[in-house]
Amino acid sequence: MAELIPLSLKDTPALIETVFPAQKVSFEAQKERKANLGQTLTGLGSYWKGRKPLILVRAIVLGSLLPPTADAEKDLEIYEQLLAFDEGGLARRALANNAFSPKEVARTLALSNPWDYFVCPFKNEELTPEEALLWEMPLDSEKVGINLRWQRDLPDSDKLDLYLRMLEISPNYEARAALCKRPEELDQTELYSSVWPKVNAHYQHLGINAYSHQELVEQLGLLRFGHRPKVGDTFCGGGSIPFEAARLGCDVYASDLNPIACMLTWGALNIIGASPEKRTEIEHAQREVAEAVDTEITALGIEHDSLGNRAKAYLYCLETRCPETGWMVPLSPSWVISKTHNVVAKLIPDEKKQRFNIDIVSGVSNEEMKAAELGTVQNGCLTYYVNGKTYTTPIKTLRGDYKDADGNTANRLRQWEKLDFKPRSDDIFKERLYCIQWVTADSLNKKQKITFFAAVTEDDLNREQRIEQIVANNIAQWQQLGLVPDMPIEPGDKTDEPIRTRGWTYWHHLFNARQLLHYSLYISASRKNPNPISTIMLSRSVDSSSRLTRWDSGNGQDRVANTFSNQALNTLFNYACRGFLHLKGQLQYDVWGLLNSHFEVKNSVTNKIASLTNSITDLFITDPPYADAVHYHEITEYFIAWLRKNPPAPFNEWIWDSRRALAIKGSGDDFRRGMVEAYTAMTQHMPDNGMQGVMFTHQDTGVWSDMVGIFWAAGLQVVAAWYIATETTSELKKGGYVQGTVILMLRKRELGDKPGFKQKILPAVRREVEAQITQMMHLNADVTNKLGEPVFNDSDLQMAGYAAALKVLTAYTHIGGEDVTTFALRPRVKGEISVVDEIVQQAAEAANSLLIPEGLGAETWQKISGIQRFYLRMMDIETTGASKLDNYQNFAKAFRVEDYTRVMGNMAANKARLKRVTEFASRELTESTELGASWLGYLAIGLQQLLADVEPQAVISQIQADLPEFMEVRPLLIDMLLFIGKKAPEPQVKEAAEILAARLRNMRAIGQ
Ligand SMILES: C[S@@+](CC[C@H](N)C(=O)[O-])C[C@H]1O[C@@H](n2cnc3c(N)ncnc32)[C@H](O)[C@@H]1O
Repeated sequence: MAELIPLSLKDTPALIETVFPAQKVSFEAQKERKANLGQTLTGLGSYWKGRKPLILVRAIVLGSLLPPTADAEKDLEIYEQLLAFDEGGLARRALANNAFSPKEVARTLALSNPWDYFVCPFKNEELTPEEALLWEMPLDSEKVGINLRWQRDLPDSDKLDLYLRMLEISPNYEARAALCKRPEELDQTELYSSVWPKVNAHYQHLGINAYSHQELVEQLGLLRFGHRPKVGDTFCGGGSIPFEAARLGCDVYASDLNPIACMLTWGALNIIGASPEKRTEIEHAQREVAEAVDTEITALGIEHDSLGNRAKAYLYCLETRCPETGWMVPLSPSWVISKTHNVVAKLIPDEKKQRFNIDIVSGVSNEEMKAAELGTVQNGCLTYYVNGKTYTTPIKTLRGDYKDADGNTANRLRQWEKLDFKPRSDDIFKERLYCIQWVTADSLNKKQKITFFAAVTEDDLNREQRIEQIVANNIAQWQQLGLVPDMPIEPGDKTDEPIRTRGWTYWHHLFNARQLLHYSLYISASRKNPNPISTIMLSRSVDSSSRLTRWDSGNGQDRVANTFSNQALNTLFNYACRGFLHLKGQLQYDVWGLLNSHFEVKNSVTNKIASLTNSITDLFITDPPYADAVHYHEITEYFIAWLRKNPPAPFNEWIWDSRRALAIKGSGDDFRRGMVEAYTAMTQHMPDNGMQGVMFTHQDTGVWSDMVGIFWAAGLQVVAAWYIATETTSELKKGGYVQGTVILMLRKRELGDKPGFKQKILPAVRREVEAQITQMMHLNADVTNKLGEPVFNDSDLQMAGYAAALKVLTAYTHIGGEDVTTFALRPRVKGEISVVDEIVQQAAEAANSLLIPEGLGAETWQKISGIQRFYLRMMDIETTGASKLDNYQNFAKAFRVEDYTRVMGNMAANKARLKRVTEFASRELTESTELGASWLGYLAIGLQQLLADVEPQAVISQIQADLPEFMEVRPLLIDMLLFIGKKAPEPQVKEAAEILAARLRNMRAIGQ
């Protein structure tokens, strides 16, 4: 066996420069996202949005370390095995998920020896075991009246054989992987044990001998860099990149400007990756603090009633005086309390006091539930009914909105002051407790708690007052000690809302007296034994109970939603506050995992990278901020306000301020300058054979060119680009745009000047694109022959085309006399087409001319316009069952289609499809539309006519009359019709296309 020679792979490219299982990673990444709280890092703080999927990070790290060999197909096979995307990995993952029942297996597979696997206790007395012994499968066990079970001691290897056969029947990767657990959910030793001999054999010539990812990574690091690979992420956010890199065995260096990001990353590495001893210690410490507070709350008697029931949640609403009637009216968009138990709040008018009593009624009829859905806030107005009349006043009027001298909207809400924690008696919006969810005394110590909802009693109000008194007496001191926030809310895009809609000016105004008491007791108790984990738990809990936590009675559950269930600070008319009993869970976290690598987390600005690590970092993997995707700097102030005083070590080394001014944000000139500085600093801290992987969301070509310009100016050269589909329908609704993630792989550009000119670069770009795509199509053909499914789909090839173009372009230092830094930093003029845009477009065209849809003649493809190429290409892609909207959007861009939406039949994120030939209205096919003016448009009209029983001859005569160039383009029309005949989803269109094609073809025969 060869020996491992350090640095022997020093100058070898990385596998990710040529292959990446983008489709599979896309699917697995979406699967990870959909796991919601099941995601590994989310539990530390679900308020941090936009963590990058761990599986994506894993694929990038591995792809950056693995070397290509002479056998590209085998390289890919090993790469996929290391990610558990291969057939064997899928079978193990499906087995862990118990994806197939014995009944399903028996019904599906041909088995001559079924009783090697199954047993069946006989339900049907007429059957004897002897008879059953003669059976073969497939067999419908239900029909014959037996209940199959797996044999008790059946080894997993036998089950796996059957699972492999079952999975083979699934039509594609998505269908197979949908049956599986995620790779990270399985025991890693078991999942990969059969992979290592194959990996070691494949890399035998390099001396690789590994039995875990960590060993493999360490050995690859030695071969490439002379040591275990060091991975840096200077925009570490929620910590996915450093965490996953550490889990794979890399040493990691993470930093972020924002202390909350640093805290979460620190938590990922230290809590989730803690050793068994540390885990016990952490869990013990958490429990101790939570119990201490619980004892105190119980002693104060503020969350138990006289019968020993204990409150789980308190529901509050705003209350205001109606300007028309003078009545005090509670405000809530809905009075439904529980959909599962049909509980509602009923407003009972009290004429004398001119206010409403609020009754809580359980088990009401469905009509009453429906009625309760209409609250007293409807369409931005206070709306209520009293004395036979409905009164409606816009909330804006209640607030007293007006335009100030500068034309800004202001209002007459009182601005709350530093010691305020509740509305004053003369405030426009007051607050009222209207319902309590109790846990019965009997079930308090049981696992299954029994709860009920009740109206507020005098006793409850007395308890409220006691809390308010405690807070009023102590708030000034608490603020001084840092037990509750004393930080003003700085206006901003997201932080304006609480100020404008409630008059809240300090962060603690977002919490009521009970919440302030809970948290101050917790901080005080945790200070007795300062520990960073309490700080992380505190952030989790302040997210889970505040004046912004909605009461959610949808989806068959009654629960308190989180403050950051979206990425804003939305104020509410009614909200839910957790009782401590219910908050306690948020203060404890089940710790697991073990990381052996070295890791560091620093709180620093990216361009001050020197403080990140004294040594050189081999791989930088980053997910930079841009285009105001999430306002981390503003949102996190909500947490910083709580944590900034006296943070425990090591958090005390960080700056507890969001440093808004230093955050890279937006997409303008400042953004580009900040990014160039950041990436230049990273490049300078990278060895010559180092690499960078940058992820960013693909929004439009503008972002593309900006990003490329930035990395280029930072001294980097693009070596590969991959595209991962990450959109979900709900994200689409929110953002209004299609999302996917681009991964750009970059290396240091060679030193020295390399001037270039467009005329010289363009042919080089074409050559590179052609070479790249041809190579990939080759691999596709090999893999399809073997596995029945290609590695790359058309969008991967398209993306690779871009990457090839950028590789050529970013090798230059000057284009047409302008150096790249000037180019990147030059302010953008709206509508300007930069050299990057132009080259990207050229690359797309070069790629497109190679990617002829199967079944269409090359000559036809060269001659038809963008919209026709788009329609036919997508028609071809649809035959594979693809239905992602971003695919359509990307191709529309590549084909320079003006408005692809006009040829779309469905624009749903995952159900997108073209408009069918029969669905086009005639106005959509007139000369003035993109499609209508094309040959394909005329053919569509012809097909519609044919389907409407117009004589074929008349249809042809019409096309001939409409197209002066008819005779020249006739072969092309025939080719397109034959293509439609093969690809159209509806049989009648297929048939019509064939008829029309045959007629056109026969014209020559009859000499027309
Ligand atoms: C898109 S997020 C990273 C998310 C992360 N990859 C994850 O998976 O959770 C970008 C991060 O960049 C940080 N950031 C913005 N400007 C910065 C600067 N000038 N220096 C360092 N970090 C900065 C933000 O605080 C934010 O955490």
